[in-house]
Amino acid sequence: MKKNIIKWGLRGLLAVLVIIQFFQIDRTNPPIESEKTLAVVDPPPAEVMTLLKPACYDCHSHETVYPWYTYIQPIGWWTKDHVEHGTKHLNFSVWGDYKEKRRLHKYEEIAEMVADKEMPMGVYLPAHKDARLTDAQRKLIVDWAKSKMVMEAPVPEAPAGEEEEADDEDGAA
Ligand code: HEC
Repeated sequence: MKKNIIKWGLRGLLAVLVIIQFFQIDRTNPPIESEKTLAVVDPPPAEVMTLLKPACYDCHSHETVYPWYTYIQPIGWWTKDHVEHGTKHLNFSVWGDYKEKRRLHKYEEIAEMVADKEMPMGVYLPAHKDARLTDAQRKLIVDWAKSKMVMEAPVPEAPAGEEEEADDEDGAA
């Protein structure tokens, strides 16, 4: 009796595993408009770019490469979920669409997340050797992101939405 329950339980599980394989994910990337990409709008130094590409671009750009195991469900679903959430929060392919303030904020978050080893995501690393960053590589990314925060912070023209003191000079002439 007990044997039968196990037997049918396993068959049921197998059936579920077979059925979910029919629900494949969409592996097509949205089209890339190169003039909007980080690489064109605000190109990082080459040594940083060669780290970002393998460590971040699968989840934070429209250049996602879907490995063979994403054809196996539910692994594909999890992957797709990471890509959808990742690109929603940070997308290097549409950097040109971000306002100045947003870019600064993203650079800040990149420095923070990479320094704290929160990114790239831990689950991603076992299958992606070249995404495993050494401390020196993390420092390269963090230093780059921080340099962007410093350099772009004191913009001379008033950023949109902050017009304090903008009309001071009016009566001067
Ligand atoms: C396996 C997918 C994956 C990889 C690889 C990955 N990320 Fe992420 N990242 C995510 C997801 C998913 C989120 C959204 C987190 C959440 O929903 O809590 C995120 C969030 C972030 C955020 C927060 C953005 C915000 O404004 O909230 C930053 C910054 C970030 N990632 C940077 C990076 C950097 C830099 C790399 C490469 C060094 C990287 N990530 C690699 C999946 C990934």
